[in-house]
Amino acid sequence: MDEQQKSIQKQREAREAEHLNEELKHKTTMASSQVAEHYNQRRELGVEGRLHTKITGLRLFNNWVKSLLIRQYAYSGCRVLDLGCGKGGDLRKWSIAGIAEYVGMDIAQVSVQQAQRRFADMQNARFKARFFAQDCYAVKKRARSAGSQSFGNSVYQVEFANPLQDIRRFGTAYSFTLDEAVEDCTEYLVHLPTLVQLAREHQLDLELCCSFHQLFAEHKQQRASLDLFHRMRVLDAQRPEISADEWEAVGIYLAIAFRKQK
Ligand SMILES: C[S@@+](CC[C@H](N)C(=O)[O-])C[C@H]1O[C@@H](n2cnc3c(N)ncnc32)[C@H](O)[C@@H]1O
Repeated sequence: MDEQQKSIQKQREAREAEHLNEELKHKTTMASSQVAEHYNQRRELGVEGRLHTKITGLRLFNNWVKSLLIRQYAYSGCRVLDLGCGKGGDLRKWSIAGIAEYVGMDIAQVSVQQAQRRFADMQNARFKARFFAQDCYAVKKRARSAGSQSFGNSVYQVEFANPLQDIRRFGTAYSFTLDEAVEDCTEYLVHLPTLVQLAREHQLDLELCCSFHQLFAEHKQQRASLDLFHRMRVLDAQRPEISADEWEAVGIYLAIAFRKQK
């Protein structure tokens, strides 16, 4: 690494440290807010509380993966469409990446309002942002009746209304529960070949598709990724390991990245 790269890396690390501090402050402010929607219904545990739940390791691991992906694919001056942006928990990460413009969409209106507020509260945001409460998939929901298929453990549960051989391109519903985060929420399977095809129609090429376990196996060999892992306190002295159930839950997530053709 030459001197210029070292200096860029140092600046980035300083911004990341600043971001972590601001996130902690922000979570304290958010602790009092009352929300109605499913994703907004999480019990706010406060900063300390959040560090001692059954899925703290999982949350921090997911946060690390998002930081890795944003580091890898976002670049200075780029424009971002964040589908399912939630409460805007990643706005600082995008800011650190130096993006020029951001559009956040989420089906949960209260979450979108919180994201908007979060953006307004951000100091030194050097990008423009717009937010929309919108269903990004416009999938027609179907009533399900017979059959049942489920899996999970003490931190998460997935239950399909119909047997798995009935998976379709659109509309395969399942109920998802993640301890202290999501309760019995209806979600829909994403049919990957269809997603890739739809993306291609919008000049988006698939760059990455791997499970979080694979991503970890790859990145644990890389010094910068491991440093970030520790700085983001995915593991630390108080919580030296991720539980077996959390690790299994980590394995249900996929990291997917598309790149817009030039
Ligand atoms: C696991 S949360 C992730 C939130 C955010 N991206 C983050 O990482 O903090 C998933 C988000 O997807 C949103 N969502 C689910 N189905 C959606 C749909 N059809 N259209 C738009 N957003 C949707 C939910 O409201 C929720 O905020």
